[in-house]
Amino acid sequence: MKELQFDRHRRLRTTSSLRDLVRETTVEKADLIYPVFTVEGSEVKNEVPSMPGVYQYSIDLLKEEIDDVVEQGIQAILLFGVPERKDEVGSNAYAENGIVQRAIRELKVRHPELTIIADTCLCQFTDHGHCGVIEDGTIINDTSLDLLTKTAVSQAEAGADVIAPSNMMDGFVTAIRNGLDEAGFVHVPVMSYAVKYASAYYGPFRDAAHSSPSFGDRRTYQMDPANRKEALREASSDDEEGADFLIIKPALSYLDIVRDVKEQINRPIVAYNVSGEYSMIKSAAAQGWLDEKETVIEKLTSMKRAGADLIVTYFAKDMARWIDENI
Ligand code: PBG
Ligand code: ZN
Repeated sequence: MKELQFDRHRRLRTTSSLRDLVRETTVEKADLIYPVFTVEGSEVKNEVPSMPGVYQYSIDLLKEEIDDVVEQGIQAILLFGVPERKDEVGSNAYAENGIVQRAIRELKVRHPELTIIADTCLCQFTDHGHCGVIEDGTIINDTSLDLLTKTAVSQAEAGADVIAPSNMMDGFVTAIRNGLDEAGFVHVPVMSYAVKYASAYYGPFRDAAHSSPSFGDRRTYQMDPANRKEALREASSDDEEGADFLIIKPALSYLDIVRDVKEQINRPIVAYNVSGEYSMIKSAAAQGWLDEKETVIEKLTSMKRAGADLIVTYFAKDMARWIDENI
């Protein structure tokens, strides 16, 4: 009988050890960034209804939560503040004693080695909930840049290790880089939300951060989900303006963009696995429809495979635990 000619791909899948040997992509603890929300008050730990397992913490309890995060081997957090008072120009975003500034100072004393990435935006702090300043119903780009720069500098003064501007105004990297340099923070990197789409997947986050726009939507500044080439223009301009990391957000529906940007631009690439992507898995797992651990590992691995160097994810603590379990 004539021998059949074909490749035996299954040879490398026969045992778990062989599969480990040929695995091309892994997720490590050092790849993970954990987002956290802090609120005013003390002894506050509010679960976000649309994000089971995610809480808003007052600073006292946030410190305990971060003890746990560090204990699990996570080295970076992305900090969001939810202030008590909001106004037209988001004053609490750049107040010396704003919620974010205080949280950074206290966390830095307790965990000097932890990388604290400060989200730099106005939407949690403005009464209209937009990411910039409003005049006659429109978001004014250049006036917003001044306030965002003030915010970034005050976060750096409080001790933030990395500044992460998420506002999608044009020129924010240049403005913030100049502001940081002039204030003596030449060493503080900018992790730019370079490619941020106007996405329905942010819904649960807006519950957590109380940052829904009170009128209109964010489509005049966040990107149209239909556009791929435009993502490269956004990423290139942030690269040229000196961003140190580039974030693509959301992650799951935009893995093609993660790949494109990784191939075209030589900077560390960050995929932001957003709130809606978290809640979808949580709700399906709660119904018993998906296996949470298997699904999360597959999905975070796919982000790395697409080209992400780092992943911002609400699953960071779980993932760190699962990494330990699998060793
Ligand atoms: C706004 C901001 C958003 C997120 C982080 N900062 C999105 C938005 O409300 O437009 C989304 C994060 C998530 O969904 O997990 N500056
Ligand atoms: Zn914003």
